[in-house]
Amino acid sequence: MSTLAIVGTQWGDEGKGKIVDILSEGADYIVRYQGGNNAGHTVVVNGVKYVLHLLPSGILHDGKKCVLGNGMVIDLEGLWNEVEFIKRVGKSPEGRLFVSERAHVIFPYHKALDAASEKLKGDGSIGTTLKGIGPAYRDKAGRVGIRIADLKDEESFKEKLRWNIREKELTLKHVYNYPVSFNFDEIYSHTMRIYEKVADFVCDTVSLLNRAIDAQERVLFEGAQATLLDIDVGTYPFVTSSNSSALGIPAGAGVSPKKVEKVYGIAKAYTTRVGGGPFPTELKDNTGELLRARGHEYGSTTGRPRRCGWLDLFAVKFSAQVNQLDGLVITKLDVLDAFDQIKVCVGYELNGQLIDRFPSTARELEQVKPVYETLPGWKQKTTNVKSFNELPEEAKNFIKFVEDYLGIPVPIISTGPQRDETVIRERIW
Ligand code: GDP
Ligand code: IMO
Ligand code: MG
Repeated sequence: MSTLAIVGTQWGDEGKGKIVDILSEGADYIVRYQGGNNAGHTVVVNGVKYVLHLLPSGILHDGKKCVLGNGMVIDLEGLWNEVEFIKRVGKSPEGRLFVSERAHVIFPYHKALDAASEKLKGDGSIGTTLKGIGPAYRDKAGRVGIRIADLKDEESFKEKLRWNIREKELTLKHVYNYPVSFNFDEIYSHTMRIYEKVADFVCDTVSLLNRAIDAQERVLFEGAQATLLDIDVGTYPFVTSSNSSALGIPAGAGVSPKKVEKVYGIAKAYTTRVGGGPFPTELKDNTGELLRARGHEYGSTTGRPRRCGWLDLFAVKFSAQVNQLDGLVITKLDVLDAFDQIKVCVGYELNGQLIDRFPSTARELEQVKPVYETLPGWKQKTTNVKSFNELPEEAKNFIKFVEDYLGIPVPIISTGPQRDETVIRERIW
C-alpha cells in the first residue's frame, strides 16, 4: 500500500494529530487537503505539546515531506508563525514543506465577514472559529478568490485585491450593517511581506503528489475537522466549508480517487462537538462534565469548552459508510476508565420509530432520540497498557462491540496523548 488517509468520523478533535504523527513514521509525504487554521491538531512528544493548525502533523518527523494541498485556505501569517514555531523547536522545514500555489489565501476581510455573518445569525450561529474559513471558501466558489499563485503577478494581484476590498466593504456595510474599512496599501504590503518569507515553499503540489504516488512513494492524507463537519455529508449547515471527509481528498490534493488506497477513521471513545448544531448523545449533566474534565475537552484552536456525550456509533457507522473505512482507530479510551457503566448509541428513533439512515437535515437530527446499549465499565487505568490482551476484559469487550457493530476492525487504540500510550494490534502500514 502506498497511500493511506486518516479522517475524523465525528465532529472533530478525535486525536487525528496524535495518530497521524505516529503513522508519519511510515510515510514519505503527509498531506493536508482541506480546511485551514480552523484545525487544531495536538501532538505530544516527550511530554512536550505541539498544536498544529496548518502544518501536517508529520512535520515533527525530520525529513518527512509535508504538503498543504490546493484544497486548503491559507492564512499566510498563520503559516509563517507555524514555520517560525517549528524552527524554534529545532525542526527545519527547508526542502520538505510544500504549499500549493492553487490554495486560496485568507484575507482580513474574510475574518470580518465570518464575524459579521455569525453576529447576524444570532442564536442560530454556527459557532465558527472566526478564522475566515467560510468566507474564503465562499470566494473560491464564487470565483473571486485570490490564490497563492496570484501573488506572483503584481498587477493582477492588485486588481483582484482592490475589487475584493470594495466588494467586501459594500457587503459588510449594506448587508451586515457591520461597517469595516480595509486599507488597500497596508493589506497589499503586509501580504507581500509575508508571501516573500514563505515563497520558497510554494509550488505545484498537484504535480508533485501525482509523481510521488506514481513512483510508489508513501503518501499519508491527513483530514482536518471530520466527516460530520463535511460540507456535503455533514450536519449542514452546522459544518465547516470544505469536504473534510475522505471525499475531499481527490479534489483537495489534485489526485484521482483511484489513488487513495486505504481510508481509516478515527473516533474518540465518546463524542465531542465544538460550536452549534445538533448532537443527539450530548450530556448536559455531571457525566458530561466528567467526560470534559477527564478528556481535557477544551478547543485546541479557540479554547472553547467542547460539548461532550456518549459514543454515537450510529453516526460513526454513517461515517464508515461514506468514507468506506477500512478500519477505525479508537482514541481516548483512558477517559472512560472512571465510569461504572458506559453507554453507546446504536440507533436513533424519530417520531417513535427506529430509523435506518443517518438524517440529512439538522432539524431531523435535533429531533431524534438516541437508543443506547449499556456496557459495563472497567474502572482501571488503561494508560500504560501495551497490548490488547493486557486491557481489562470490559475494555476489550467495548472495542469488540464497536468492531461488531461497524463490521470493521479497530487496529489501533489510544490510551493517552503520548506517542507510546498506544496499543497497536495490527500495523495499518
Ligand atoms: P485533532 O484535532 O483530531 O488532532 O484532536 P485535538 O488535538 O484537537 O484533540 C485531541 C486531544 O486529546 C489532544 O489534547 C490530544 O493530546 C489528546 N489525546 C489524543 N489521544 C488521546 C488519548 O488516547 N487519551 C487522552 N487522554 N488524550 C488524548
Ligand atoms: P480539527 O481539525 C472541531 C467547527 C467549529 C464550527 C464549525 C465551522 O481540530 O478537528 P469554521 O471555522 O470551520 O467555519 O467552523 O466547525 N470546527 C471544528 N470543530 N475541530 C475542528 O478541527 C474544527 N474546525 C472547525 O467549531 O462549529
Ligand atoms: Mg482539534
